[in-house]
Amino acid sequence: MCGIIGYTGKLEVQNVLINGLSRLEYRGYDSAGIAYFRENQPHISLRKTAGKVKDLRAVCDKVNPSTCGIGHTRWATHGGVSTANAHPHRVGKVALIHNGIIENYAAITNKFNLADELQSETDTEVGAALLNHFYEETHDPKETIRKAVAEIKGSFAFGILFEDHPGEIYAVRNVSPMVASFDPKIGAFIASDVTAFIEHTNRYFVVPEYTIASLSPEGIALEDLEGHPVTPEIMTVDWDLTAAEKDGYPHFMIKEIHEQPAAITRTITPRIKNDLPDFSGDQVPDDFFKGAENVTIVACGTAMYAGMVGAEFIQNHLRMPVTVSIASEFRYSQPVIDKNSIVIVVSQSGETIDTLEALKLAKQYTDRTLSIVNVKESSIARESHYVVYTHAGPEIAVASTKAYTVQVATMYLLGFKLGLVNGRLTEDEAKERVQALKAIPGHIEEVLQYENQVKELTSRMVNAQDAFYIGRGLDYRVAMEGALKLKEISYIHAEAYAAGELKHGTISLIEEGVPVIAIANQQKVYEKVISNIREVKARDAFVILISKDKEINDPTVCNVHLSIPDVPDDLTVFETAVICQLIGYYTSVGKGLDPDQPRNLAKSVTVE
Ligand code: F6R
Repeated sequence: MCGIIGYTGKLEVQNVLINGLSRLEYRGYDSAGIAYFRENQPHISLRKTAGKVKDLRAVCDKVNPSTCGIGHTRWATHGGVSTANAHPHRVGKVALIHNGIIENYAAITNKFNLADELQSETDTEVGAALLNHFYEETHDPKETIRKAVAEIKGSFAFGILFEDHPGEIYAVRNVSPMVASFDPKIGAFIASDVTAFIEHTNRYFVVPEYTIASLSPEGIALEDLEGHPVTPEIMTVDWDLTAAEKDGYPHFMIKEIHEQPAAITRTITPRIKNDLPDFSGDQVPDDFFKGAENVTIVACGTAMYAGMVGAEFIQNHLRMPVTVSIASEFRYSQPVIDKNSIVIVVSQSGETIDTLEALKLAKQYTDRTLSIVNVKESSIARESHYVVYTHAGPEIAVASTKAYTVQVATMYLLGFKLGLVNGRLTEDEAKERVQALKAIPGHIEEVLQYENQVKELTSRMVNAQDAFYIGRGLDYRVAMEGALKLKEISYIHAEAYAAGELKHGTISLIEEGVPVIAIANQQKVYEKVISNIREVKARDAFVILISKDKEINDPTVCNVHLSIPDVPDDLTVFETAVICQLIGYYTSVGKGLDPDQPRNLAKSVTVE
């Protein structure tokens, strides 16, 4: 939610900021802006506009020799989408970019009489006015920041310019993510994440919370709020610019769909030794699993649907009780967990605020928390007792695809380990399952061959108002993810139903031509699902059936049949999910929409 970037150094800042913002746009694309020192003079200029980064480019000067500035791409929280509400916000001698929410902005406005200085509807402008208030008093950037953050409640990653300090950027954060990097040949960067400056450097560090970062072309100094120097841990990303670019694909989403076989291989290979699950490389000891009596899985959206797949396996095959909770609900609940409970939180970004807070709550009850996270050193990764990183690489499209399948693969490996350590799975059983999992990337490649067929059939979806996804058991869990994929990028109302539940109400919505994506991959309930499908087909639904059957030519069952490779029932989730992703993607494209940047959404949800 909102992307920030700052740079000071030898390069022309406008290009650095705009290129960086275009790669941060997945975090928000309502409005964008930059502020920079005019030719290193103590004068700050601003360019901002409602709209996307390409619109910002249009309002910027053709040539801009400035080498120090900050930039922002916004996902609106306080105040609508307008140029006035776009960041940076300038009050007096301060220009500010902000990712997060200043919760007590009204109280601050009253306490410091700031109302007359505000021109926008944003909480951020209150932050800028507060900083300016203290700057007028102290004329000292760091003292100003110390005083301001003592007043602010909420989450923030701030990038700040002070008019009397050309060439310098100041930054501080609480909860909201911020990374930084310095290269003596190029200069100093801050950003919401590494993708913003990956074309310049792959070395970075996470700015610790409540640490003031002072950036100049000569380096980055860090100190805590008491003025003690802080030494950061330098890290290197293991991917490069091409991973953060479309690489010839029309959209990030379709690129990321195609990256899944490689992403799964990268994720599972280091966790398999002699065909058995092994988390020693992640420093997760067997004791973490030993004696566990129940499992709670907490996440949001797609990550939660990945958790549901893991839950099905643990419950059905290990016979261990599992609860899956929506993080925003869990965090305000009284969870029934104790020291024998394992809590697994799942998050691509590692920054989802509800998941982070749910994790903090879980830690009050158990020392056995583990996160499955894609972004290294993110808040959730650092907050959990143990972390297993997925290796999807950067996921830029707002709709999650490769992050989901690597999360599912990781859930399976964790499930196998949990079963082995607690004697609920034999070594032979675990080996057989691991071998089947290792074959999944190859099967996904096979499924990707259907791309053109799926593209064609989505011409029947583009005019739909509603669509339904049905299945039983594990197929129902995948159906939920499939429905989310369709609705979030095509704006078609889509719902997932347990196939047997339809006739208890929802079947009244089925009429001629309504698309029903039916999934029938669970042998145990195969006949039952086929009967349920016949029920909707009899009411003239347009049925797309996904199953392991080689061929189904029965017009009383489906209009289109997509046959997936024959793998154990549990693992069909990967193949089905990929088909659902393609259905969502091509329906969105067929409607002339931008699947990478669906309306109202942002990738990293750092507000409640
Ligand atoms: C949907 C989607 C979201 C995320 C959810 C959690 O395609 O991407 O539902 O899965 O916002 O995000 P993370 O995984 O970053 O915690």
